[in-house]
Amino acid sequence: MFPEHRPRRLRGTPALRRLVSETTLRPRHLVLPMFVAEGNTEPHPISSMPGVVQHTRDSLRKAAVAAVQAGVGGLMLFGVPRVHDARGSGATDPDGVLNSALRDVRAEVGDDTVLMADTCLDEFTDHGHCGVLDASGNVDNDATLSRYAEMAVAQADAGAHVLGPSGMMDGQVGAIRQALDEARRTDVGILAYSAKYASAFYGPFREAVDSQLSGDRKTYQQDPGNAREALREIELDIAEGADAVMIKPAMSYLDVLSDAAEQSSVPVAAYQVSGEYAMIEAAVANGWLERERTVLESLTALRRAGADMVLTYWAADAARWLD
Ligand code: PBG
Repeated sequence: MFPEHRPRRLRGTPALRRLVSETTLRPRHLVLPMFVAEGNTEPHPISSMPGVVQHTRDSLRKAAVAAVQAGVGGLMLFGVPRVHDARGSGATDPDGVLNSALRDVRAEVGDDTVLMADTCLDEFTDHGHCGVLDASGNVDNDATLSRYAEMAVAQADAGAHVLGPSGMMDGQVGAIRQALDEARRTDVGILAYSAKYASAFYGPFREAVDSQLSGDRKTYQQDPGNAREALREIELDIAEGADAVMIKPAMSYLDVLSDAAEQSSVPVAAYQVSGEYAMIEAAVANGWLERERTVLESLTALRRAGADMVLTYWAADAARWLD
């Protein structure tokens, strides 16, 4: 009798497939990144990310509640200030757009979900870099760390449960941990963007946060060809006190994600970024891909590769589809 081996046997019915399914994808695994813009009176669509908006303070609160009702595991907030300056002053202003939004959302959702904040200056600086610049216009690592420390404490005071330092400065996790501890905020966690690549897939995000950047971030973000370096970044971040680590972008970096999941002693996140969202939405708009199947397959792949959690702009939709 040939064939002797018949793997199809276990695929014959939904019940068989369910029984042998290796990977789970649940709403609790998903974190929704959200944008809030200062002074908006109406939610403002982001043309390169159909379905995603720059919220007003009010629409953000409502969308946050809806996402929590859908069961998402967390929310990650990004602020879009009206005024930018060299130091990114809005980032540390307790009444700045992001800190105000954190306060609003925390008041609304309490501890029902995990509220996270982007701890980075690029949304707030007039040059669009993730840190402050030195006299020659280079990003000044150590001067940036003190800005991050200040920003971290402001975000903790505003109600963030977890901070997401995304600037790829050396020592950022340690600097933030120390600042939080000195402010007696030992309860606030750090999700470190450990391996964040200098990626073309962040394109639509630039529109989402009205980025002022000209040039690139190659002196601080990683070279897309480097995998070993990602493991070093993870090791350093864990040593500095990271409670969880992240790989970003996601779909083009499954090998890095898989290695990270194997090596890491803390939970691992993957960030399915704006360009990944835009690619699939564009194909869906053309009738070339089915949204729900494609999105759920991409998220399942990230879980299979080892992500404990996934940041995705589809988090609320996917949570509803999974329900
Ligand atoms: C920096 C930051 C970026 C993203 C998240 N945090 C932009 C960048 O590094 O250029 C990109 C997220 C996305 O593309 O969805 N604060």
